[in-house]
Amino acid sequence: SPAPSPKSSPEPSISSSPLDPTQLRALQSLNLLPTSSRSPCSSPEIHCDGGAPLRHLISLTISNCSDDVALSAAALKSLSTLTSLAFVNCPISPIRFPSSLAGNLRAFACIRSLRKLTGVWLSRLQNVSELTVSGVSVVASGPSIILGGMKSLQSVTLSQCNLTGILPRRWHPNLTSVDLSENRLAGSIPVSITNLENLDHLNLSGNSLNGTIPASIGDMGSLRNLSLSSNSLSGAIPDSVAALPELTHLDLSSNRLNGTIPNFLRNMKKLKYLNLESNDFHGILPFNDTFIKRLDVFKVGENSNLCYNRSALGSSSKVVKLGISPCNKHGLPISPPPAKDSSSSSDSADDGGGNSDQDKQQQHGGTSKVVLGVAIGLSSVVFLIVFLVCLSKCC
Ligand SMILES: *[C@@H]1O[C@H](CO)[C@@H](O)[C@H](O)[C@H]1NC(C)=O
Ligand SMILES: *[C@@H]1O[C@H](CO)[C@@H](O)[C@H](O)[C@H]1NC(C)=O
Ligand SMILES: *[C@@H]1O[C@H](CO)[C@@H](O)[C@H](O)[C@H]1NC(C)=O
Ligand SMILES: *[C@@H]1O[C@H](CO)[C@@H](O)[C@H](O)[C@H]1NC(C)=O
Ligand SMILES: *[C@@H]1O[C@H](CO)[C@@H](O)[C@H](O)[C@H]1NC(C)=O
Ligand SMILES: *[C@@H]1O[C@H](CO)[C@@H](O)[C@H](O)[C@H]1NC(C)=O
Ligand SMILES: *[C@@H]1O[C@H](CO)[C@@H](O)[C@H](O)[C@H]1NC(C)=O
Ligand SMILES: *[C@@H]1O[C@H](CO)[C@@H](O)[C@H](O)[C@H]1NC(C)=O
Ligand SMILES: *[C@@H]1O[C@H](CO)[C@@H](O)[C@H](O)[C@H]1NC(C)=O
Repeated sequence: SPAPSPKSSPEPSISSSPLDPTQLRALQSLNLLPTSSRSPCSSPEIHCDGGAPLRHLISLTISNCSDDVALSAAALKSLSTLTSLAFVNCPISPIRFPSSLAGNLRAFACIRSLRKLTGVWLSRLQNVSELTVSGVSVVASGPSIILGGMKSLQSVTLSQCNLTGILPRRWHPNLTSVDLSENRLAGSIPVSITNLENLDHLNLSGNSLNGTIPASIGDMGSLRNLSLSSNSLSGAIPDSVAALPELTHLDLSSNRLNGTIPNFLRNMKKLKYLNLESNDFHGILPFNDTFIKRLDVFKVGENSNLCYNRSALGSSSKVVKLGISPCNKHGLPISPPPAKDSSSSSDSADDGGGNSDQDKQQQHGGTSKVVLGVAIGLSSVVFLIVFLVCLSKCC
């Protein structure tokens, strides 16, 4: 992303001044000089300030590097003017950043790079407002040791890092985005996270979180995207979710949530994505066609005690693929939900009709019967011929 360059001046003469030769040498030693004769400052991966008489680097992306690239403390030290540094697909060995660089960085990204990091290593980036670490293992006692001292943090991604421990109990009030998905975080979701009034994005999916969803989740009034999927959360969907006016994306799939699906969800005007599948919800789905058609994604399958009211939902084409059964007059599923991959014995009492999976299965069964018939017919003919030949030889 193009870094903001507050110092870059409107006069073009200034931005044509040369890059600080010390920084040029540092880039050279890191194998990062563009092969063409262009100034490194005009490369898309490098941004410079508009300083005079020499320009300095403010942003650098090191990507797709070869194994022979090695970070040196001297080179990094002369690059301490950087406020933004990103490694993408660079599985080289990390080294300790000089404190001048570590303290100057406002944005740091490490995506499938630097082999292995520690919480202590990351915690030295005290002035970052944006931290992105993904697809690299981070050895730490928990996220707190990494984030605790980052006083300006606004956006954090620590995803696919095999990070262990529990969620922090203290958060910086200005956080707008928290993605700690696909780690090994355990324990419950702390109530303190619901104090984050500016948070618009929270992704805790793919961990081992248990306990219930905090009842005060509705306090996070800016929340737009919420994913708590693939954990071990239990209990009901809190009523306060109704107080999240901006919510567009709600993914609670693959947990052990129970209770009924709350009516208020259908009144959430901005909702576009709703995934409640693979839980223990029961009762009648409180939605009609109008609501379901408005959503881009709607999933409620694999909730064995959940069913839908056929007179309220009959005509929706999406319903056929919901993976739940219609209700009987007591609000219970009339039959086991259509199993997705069951190959045989699909003689369920489901009269919902139009289930394309079942149609395909029946067609499939029909085809194999035809094949069997042809095979039997052919072998009878062969047998008859052999029999006739034998008969003619005998006589
Ligand atoms: C890095 O490699 C990926 C995939 O091979 C490619 O799409 C991308 O453009 C490369 N980036 C740079 C800066 O060379
Ligand atoms: C963070 O930035 C402030 C002000 O820019 C600076 O005084 C401080 O030394 C920096 N912190 C670190 C750890 O370098
Ligand atoms: C996380 O751990 C698993 C199993 O130990 C391993 O296969 C995987 O590569 C690790 N992920 C990272 C990003 O190191
Ligand atoms: C949060 O942001 C506001 C305004 O952007 C700022 O005044 C305040 O100091 C910040 N708080 C913290 C704890 O960084
Ligand atoms: C949450 O993270 C998972 C895995 O990293 C990703 O697949 C999913 O799209 C994210 N969801 C949201 C709402 O950001
Ligand atoms: C938030 O949710 C919307 C609607 O599903 C989606 O289009 C968008 O990509 C999500 N944003 C992020 C950062 O995951
Ligand atoms: C939901 O599960 C909790 C335990 O996880 C249980 O105490 C509660 O009775 C269940 N509620 C319903 C309505 O099944
Ligand atoms: C669907 O439900 C909404 C809200 O509950 C209601 O306003 C709307 O009239 C219903 N639409 C139909 C076709 O029943
Ligand atoms: C199903 O929907 C119809 C029409 O919307 C309604 O009259 C009926 O009471 C509903 N049945 C149940 C069990 O909720």
